[in-house]
Formats: sequence, structure tokens, C-alpha cells
Amino acid sequence: MATPNCCRVRCFTFGEATPVPLALSLRETAVGGRVSLREATTLLAIIGGTGFGEFAGVQDIEPQQVETEFGSVYLESGALNGTPLLFLPRHGNPPRLPPHIINYRANIDALIATGADKIIAVTAVGTVDESLCVPELVIPDQLIDYTYGRVQTYYDDELHHIDLTFPYDQTLRQQLVESAIKCQKSNPKLLFRNKGVYGCLQGPRLETAAEIRRLRIDGCDIVGMTAMPECTLARERHLPYAGISVTINAGAGINQKVVDIDHTAMDEGMTWIRDILSTFVSLE
Ligand code: HPA
Repeated sequence: MATPNCCRVRCFTFGEATPVPLALSLRETAVGGRVSLREATTLLAIIGGTGFGEFAGVQDIEPQQVETEFGSVYLESGALNGTPLLFLPRHGNPPRLPPHIINYRANIDALIATGADKIIAVTAVGTVDESLCVPELVIPDQLIDYTYGRVQTYYDDELHHIDLTFPYDQTLRQQLVESAIKCQKSNPKLLFRNKGVYGCLQGPRLETAAEIRRLRIDGCDIVGMTAMPECTLARERHLPYAGISVTINAGAGINQKVVDIDHTAMDEGMTWIRDILSTFVSLE
């Protein structure tokens, strides 16, 4: 049998000089652009962002540096309520990478190499829909991509057009919504919407008031900087991908004020997300 292509991705545990073997799975994957066979697993990966650079509550954390053909990625394996999972801080550890510099291709491949078979992406966002509170959670069902100049695809040398009609995985979204409903029953303060349109801006600057008005006309509900191309690349690699966003500021021009990030709201919203993720793994 030919050498599995995923072996081209090396995985290190911190402090070790030699690569540790990857969890192989029989699921088809395409690390390096070719398909290989890997053993069946179900392993949730959480990608954390601003305000969620660490995952409090995860036990048995093992930091890893995963080498992919696109670059080296820091991530952690651990367990949440006894369920193994992976955690990848997309801005790095310590967080240094702005949204347009993040190596999205390496991140997705590093998760595949460590056995992930679904991704929940946590993002901090601004509001576009004026009726959204801060904090409020949104489990988006749609996306509009306003980014430019980012590497968007694994298919640089062949014609390949993936379908992205429904950018977020429907099953994963539904499970997140059910988890949020459950958490809301025990914490009525928790606010969330079960759908919404995420407008992904290039950044790193925030928007002008006119840009936020335009996003509203376009149909966006929330605005962030990191869902794209993360979502596309996960789809190209056949990994179910869903998002959960917390509003941390009113979009530019709303309230006739300059943008003001509400750190208390961010902390509260991220606590809600942690609860929802704990519930999610216990419902699986
Ligand atoms: N705009 C874009 N991205 C963001 C914002 C915003 O207002 N808040 C948090 N991420």
C-alpha cells in the first residue's frame, strides 16, 4: 500500500525532538491535495479567536506543534467533560496573528492531521443588525465574503469549484442551536439567535459607518474578520464546519459613537459559549 499522504504532515508534542505518529483514520482526506485513508474517529475541534484564546475548563491539555506543508501550527489536545477535543487558537499562542495574516490552510490541515472530523469556530463580532444586543450570541447560517488578497483555496493547480450554498454545516449548526436552547433554560440571561448572516471583512481596521450601513443593506447581521477563508477551506477538505459568534461591540456608526469594544460583554459572551460547548459534547 502506498504511504498515506497524511504522513507528510508531522506532529510534535512540545519538548519532544522526534515527531509523534499521527492518528490515522479511514476517513478520506486530502492533505497535500491527494486523497488518503485514515481510521474512523469522531473528534471535535474548536477554533478560538479574540476573547477565546484559551479554553478554560479543558483538562489534560497537551500542547502540540503540527507541521503541515503550508506551515507550522500550534494547537492543543485535551478533554472537555471527559470528551477528547482539539483546540486551535487561530491568532496563535501567544495571540499575534491578525486576521489577514492567519495561515488558514495550515490551520485546517493541522486539525485534519491530528484527527479532527468537525470544527466549531468561535468568533467575536460587531453588530450590523441594530436590534442585536452586546453581548448576544449568533449561530450564523450564511456568510458574505468581503475579504481580498487572502489565500482562499487548496486548489491552486486544478479546476475545482466546491459548493458553498449553505456555508455552515446544517447538522452541526442544529446541534449547536439545541445546546444553546438547553443552556438558555438554565441561564435566561443568555441571549442567542439561531441564524444570521456573517459579513467577513478584510480588516484589520474596523469599518466606517457607511460600510456598516452597506453591510446592512446587503443583509448582514454581524461583522467579523475571520470566518473566511476558514469556512471555505474546511469545506474543501470535507470537514463539517459551524460557527458561534459573540457580539462585543455595536458596529461603526450605530449609536452615533465610535466603536467601543465591551470587554465585560466579551467575557460574559465567551462564558456562555463555553457552557454551550460543554453541553454540545455531553449531548453527542
Ligand atoms: N468589525 C469587524 N470585526 C469585528 C468587529 C467589528 O466591529 N468587532 C469584533 N470583530
